Amino acid sequence: MIGRLNHVAIVVPDLAAAAEIYRKTLGAKVSDMVDQPEHGVTTVFIELPNTKIELLGVLGEDSPIAGFLKRNPAGGIHHLCYEVPDIGQARDRLVAAGARVLGKGEPKIGAHGKPVLFLHPKDFCGTLVELEQA
Ligand code: CO
Repeated sequence: MIGRLNHVAIVVPDLAAAAEIYRKTLGAKVSDMVDQPEHGVTTVFIELPNTKIELLGVLGEDSPIAGFLKRNPAGGIHHLCYEVPDIGQARDRLVAAGARVLGKGEPKIGAHGKPVLFLHPKDFCGTLVELEQA
């Protein structure tokens, strides 16, 4: 069911510093910073030949990544995003298998303008999983 690894998301305490590490030290193609107020994060996308890295910084008081950063002050891998051909079908299959979909269980439009869902880390080997309709 799952297809390509769309991105790996890394939460960082200092987005500008993290972007510089990827740009200068690692020599990657790094986007500008974009505030995503509806998601409570600021993003920087790093394009690799086979996938993307998404650097996430806190935006606003109710940022959904604030708790993660408190537990991981140096930052860390936050989630993996896999592509699926049909997100509604994927959701139904996962729910039928007993997996927990976070939030209301309905796909939302994610940072790339496509429908996404998040799956409970306890059901997926301790890793928060995002599904994005390809
Ligand atoms: Co993501």
